[in-house]
Amino acid sequence: MANARFFSWQSLVGCAVLFAFLGGAPMLVSAQSVDEAVTFTKDIAPIFQEKCEACHREGSMAPMSLVNFRETRPWARSIKAAVAAREMPPWHLDKTVGIQEFKNDRSLTDDQINTIVRWVDSGAPMGDPVDMPNPMTWPEGETWNFEELFGPPNLIIKSPAYKMAARAQDAWYKPVVETGLTEPRWVRAIEIRPSTPKGRRIMHHALARLQQEEPELEETATDPDDVGPGLFMEWAVGKQGEITRPDSGKLMLPGSKIVWDIHYHAVGEEITDSAELAIYFHPKGYEPKHRQVLHLMHGIEGGSRGLDIPPNTVSVHQGFFPLKKAGRVENFQPHMHLRGKAMSMEALLPTGERRMLSHVNDYQFDWHNNYVYADHVAPLLPKGTLLRITAWHDNTSANRDNPDPSQWVGWGDRTVDEMAHAWVNVTYMSDEDLESEIAQREASRLELTDEQ
Ligand code: HEC
Repeated sequence: MANARFFSWQSLVGCAVLFAFLGGAPMLVSAQSVDEAVTFTKDIAPIFQEKCEACHREGSMAPMSLVNFRETRPWARSIKAAVAAREMPPWHLDKTVGIQEFKNDRSLTDDQINTIVRWVDSGAPMGDPVDMPNPMTWPEGETWNFEELFGPPNLIIKSPAYKMAARAQDAWYKPVVETGLTEPRWVRAIEIRPSTPKGRRIMHHALARLQQEEPELEETATDPDDVGPGLFMEWAVGKQGEITRPDSGKLMLPGSKIVWDIHYHAVGEEITDSAELAIYFHPKGYEPKHRQVLHLMHGIEGGSRGLDIPPNTVSVHQGFFPLKKAGRVENFQPHMHLRGKAMSMEALLPTGERRMLSHVNDYQFDWHNNYVYADHVAPLLPKGTLLRITAWHDNTSANRDNPDPSQWVGWGDRTVDEMAHAWVNVTYMSDEDLESEIAQREASRLELTDEQ
């Protein structure tokens, strides 16, 4: 059974060609070589539908549509360059270390990259129109993605309208909006979208952070920056949203506020837009077993004031976040600015075992990628684990995005200042629950192995 996987279609084709050669069947040989040519309709369109169209379609955020052959063909060479360098789709994770299964992986497989490169190298042919897959249907912005699952959102919070000029520098817009909640509520899902189809063109990304007073959370927090403000956040690009795992939720309190952080970019036309945050509550009275808390985990010893990046240097900083209770680490979302180069998150277990969880080796400030672990691999970690965040900044001229390598750089809000932290969601649980989660996972892994 396991061997069957190695029996790829290439080896089958190889056999067929060999057979044709020996048996003298010229018709088969020519049919085969036509089959082997990589074409847009047969090989490329399915990849682009899955991995590019979310952004590269009419009215979405990317500068050009890659939906049909006519629109795609002029971009063939730059597509080859972008995918071979793994610049597109934006996914900047080191594929050689750490966890590799995610809920929201939009990266290309090595096979997909090879196929695209071969297609461009062979002249980027269209192929037979009959091979073209059915077009994708994309939400047009009138419905919410989770509406089918949960009904309409319980609460929608809008950022104030922002007018983006036709031509302008990128803007980071950070208004604060009251949630208006008068009682505590548990959240089970969240999504964000631009409020108009045109807004999709200028909204590069949007972050929404929940701000609320919660001194009792000091129990799990470690840093003054990590209690109260900035405590709990969600992020989205375009159409994505997040559902908390079974038995868990996020808690919103009366008097809470949403702190927006929206990155707008100009597209040659003046567009006014807001971002909308839709919140789906657990039913009233239901209290999920586990609470998910978003932490700001510093990659700097001593917090923000310890960041020290001399001119013309590559520097490294490191911070530790102790898990004061057992928990499941749900995601990794590094945050640095223009000089940010790489960031990793490791778990140092009480047993002395060290586990690399994730390493982002090509950090890009333009892309606030959130790497959300798949259910069966999200790390389950005992109380007393240290999460180690390591951050590298490249303040040399080798960094294309560096505005000025001759400057000393410290911590600050402006993009020319720096930061070095990760936003990490932790679902806390009791030691017993952790044990049983680990046992369950082990059991289902054994079951899978048995089936093979
Ligand atoms: C998450 C959104 C997103 C996804 C997914 C995505 N792109 Fe892009 N792409 C962009 C944006 C936005 C730009 C404009 C430059 C920038 O902001 O980085 C871009 C730029 C590009 C460019 C450079 C255009 C130029 O001006 O030279 C190419 C080529 C490209 N994308 C190809 C692809 C391909 C091929 C895929 C899928 C395999 C893909 N992209 C997936 C958002 C995306």
